[in-house]
Amino acid sequence: MYPKDGTVLVTGATGFIGKRLIKALVEEGYNARCMVRRHDVVLPEGATAVTGDLLVPAGLDPVFRGIDTAFYLVHSMGGGRAGFERRDRQAAEYFTAAAEKAGVRRVIYLGGLGETGPNLSEHLASRLEVAQILMKGAFKTTFLRAPVIIGAGGSSYEMIRHMVERLPMMITPRWVSTRTQPIAVADVIGYLVGCLREERTAGETLDIGGPEILSYREMMERFAAIEGKSVLIIPIPFLSLKLSSYWIGLITPVKPSIAMPLIEGVRNEMVCRDQRIRELVPIKLTGFDEAIRIALGEEKDQHGK
Ligand SMILES: NC(=O)c1ccc[n+]([C@@H]2O[C@H](COP(=O)([O-])OP(=O)(O)OC[C@H]3O[C@@H](n4cnc5c(N)ncnc54)[C@H](OP(=O)(O)O)[C@@H]3O)[C@@H](O)[C@H]2O)c1
Repeated sequence: MYPKDGTVLVTGATGFIGKRLIKALVEEGYNARCMVRRHDVVLPEGATAVTGDLLVPAGLDPVFRGIDTAFYLVHSMGGGRAGFERRDRQAAEYFTAAAEKAGVRRVIYLGGLGETGPNLSEHLASRLEVAQILMKGAFKTTFLRAPVIIGAGGSSYEMIRHMVERLPMMITPRWVSTRTQPIAVADVIGYLVGCLREERTAGETLDIGGPEILSYREMMERFAAIEGKSVLIIPIPFLSLKLSSYWIGLITPVKPSIAMPLIEGVRNEMVCRDQRIRELVPIKLTGFDEAIRIALGEEKDQHGK
């Protein structure tokens, strides 16, 4: 096992991805040191909590002490839309300084897929900026670029689910034709753990995606079919993305501070350009329909529906 003592640091441990990653790490026999901002967080048995806030650099030394490899899963959008880029930049800079000071050797960061040109949405540009800050660090950063992730509690997934379940008819801007490569959350966790095990991923930027390329329209139609519903989608070319972000924000339970930047990002195609991960970390990918069924099942278990 690498690192030898099996201890890895997970930042963003209370998030959608973090919670699942910790569980997988503990099951694999790692000692997951989980950075949390609140004392009352319940972690899976076998995981260790360490209190820290990446915006408060003074308290970070004990968080990183003795750490060889750290996962970076921190995302500031939950704290409100205003200034999220500044908070994410600052958090990445403080993380980098603390990790360098502690002699961290590897960092694994899960960010977003999307082209890198000037048309990138604010949200994706900010995720990319975080990658660039980490990659300047003295450690080796693995930057995994992910598209829409399918799993109960994931922001993009929950927005799609609520649209399909609540709206039999949708008038949308052109973004419904944008292509993405949705991936099951279990496969994302498989890749994160796989990167920890596979040293050849150190220092690499790698695209991860599911087995199918689908437009948002196809995703919603297939989602509806799985739930035995039908959805009529009417794209209107002149409808603005901003306007649609307001009405989608109204019908989904995802906080507007998270929903709006995500919706603005749907204009950016999210398709893997690089397939090296398939050879470096070979895993059997879950099909889209199966990923939706698993997510709906998880949702039922969580809410007893
Ligand atoms: N969800 C998706 O569909 C998706 C798709 C592609 C890529 N990704 C990437 O996956 C990564 C994780 O996303 P996620 O969906 O798991 O995010 P999330 O559920 O919003 O979780 C964000 C985490 O960051 C923590 N955090 C925020 N500010 C912090 C600070 N100042 N110091 C320490 N911790 C802080 C939060 O802690 P608190 O609980 O204390 O707030 C929480 O644990 C992100 O980089 C995201 O870009 C996600």
